Amino acid sequence: DKGEYRHFMLKEIYEQPKVIKATMEGRLTDSRVLEQALGTEAANLLDNVRHVQIIACGTSYHAGMVARYWIEELAGVPCSVEVASEFRYRKHVIQPDTLFLCISQSGETADTLAALRQAKQAGFRAALAICNVPGSSLVRESDLVIMTQAGPEIGVASTKAFTTQLTALLIFTLALARHNGLSEEREAEIVQAIHQLPGQVNDILALDGEIQELSKAFMDKHHSLFLGRGSQFPVALEGALKLKEISYIHAEAYPAGELKHGPLALVDSEMPVVTVAPNNDLVEKLKSNLEEVRARGGELFVFADKAADVKPEEGVHVMQIPSVHEITAPIVYTVPLQLLSYHVAVLKGTDVDQPRNLAKSVTVE
Ligand code: M6R
Repeated sequence: DKGEYRHFMLKEIYEQPKVIKATMEGRLTDSRVLEQALGTEAANLLDNVRHVQIIACGTSYHAGMVARYWIEELAGVPCSVEVASEFRYRKHVIQPDTLFLCISQSGETADTLAALRQAKQAGFRAALAICNVPGSSLVRESDLVIMTQAGPEIGVASTKAFTTQLTALLIFTLALARHNGLSEEREAEIVQAIHQLPGQVNDILALDGEIQELSKAFMDKHHSLFLGRGSQFPVALEGALKLKEISYIHAEAYPAGELKHGPLALVDSEMPVVTVAPNNDLVEKLKSNLEEVRARGGELFVFADKAADVKPEEGVHVMQIPSVHEITAPIVYTVPLQLLSYHVAVLKGTDVDQPRNLAKSVTVE
């Protein structure tokens, strides 16, 4: 039931504060991750993990890309991420002390399951699933499971599944990091940041009207570019995927530093450029990327930390985002991009919940 909402997608975007909270529930104290809540075997399975191999498709793959930044930064464990359809059709090397991590909303994605089954033959330490559907094939075939508590997701474009996957992945990362020397202070700092997420996502939802206003600029465009750096690069990828899936506008995402290496040639007044700019040490570099775009007449849409001091000017639309912790920022910055693509799709009159050519669950190759 869509309730008061016009589409399931919008309802699911608005459910995020609640389902992120549900995904934290019982897994955190004020300052610690409750490792036993991840499964009675968790401590044993997470010990001596020397490498993490993440496998997923689509939006779930983008969640895996964000998790790679967290796992390497907080746990200091090398992490590789690959789309399942590529992994399963190449010769791969899996070290015996690898944690094999599959991320899937449905738990029934054919390529992801095939990759897991193949990897089992090659041997690994343990298989962990981040999944939203209890009793799904992925859950049944994994050693350790962290369920996202997103509830049923009806819209084909994944929204709340993604932000709850990220929440679960960050909790998992902290548990793994504890086995690898993360200090109690740093753990407490990040757990406190996780507790703030539902409120911060609510703050973003309050910007919905402004984002709807911005969306008008995309209505007659055929192409767009999304830029991000660091752990916001996968957020840019996810923002671009949302826009193309439901509005059918061609959207490409690039790490901002790659701009000069090719895509800058595409930029003109017909090519809106969307950027996510939290206030971290990459923001100054990002600002110079923005100038490069401006100098070519590109219209900019910047979602920026209010402390990052990105100034609105002719052709530069700035949406100020309340300051958030750098580690949890990818979760928060995803939400305005979901709203942007939603409103563009509504303006274009597409079938938002059931975009053409797509299925909710890809159970065949
Ligand atoms: O159920 P899964 O998470 O395994 O599905 C993976 C992708 O098919 C899915 O995320 C797809 O990319 C969504 N339509 C994105 O919005």
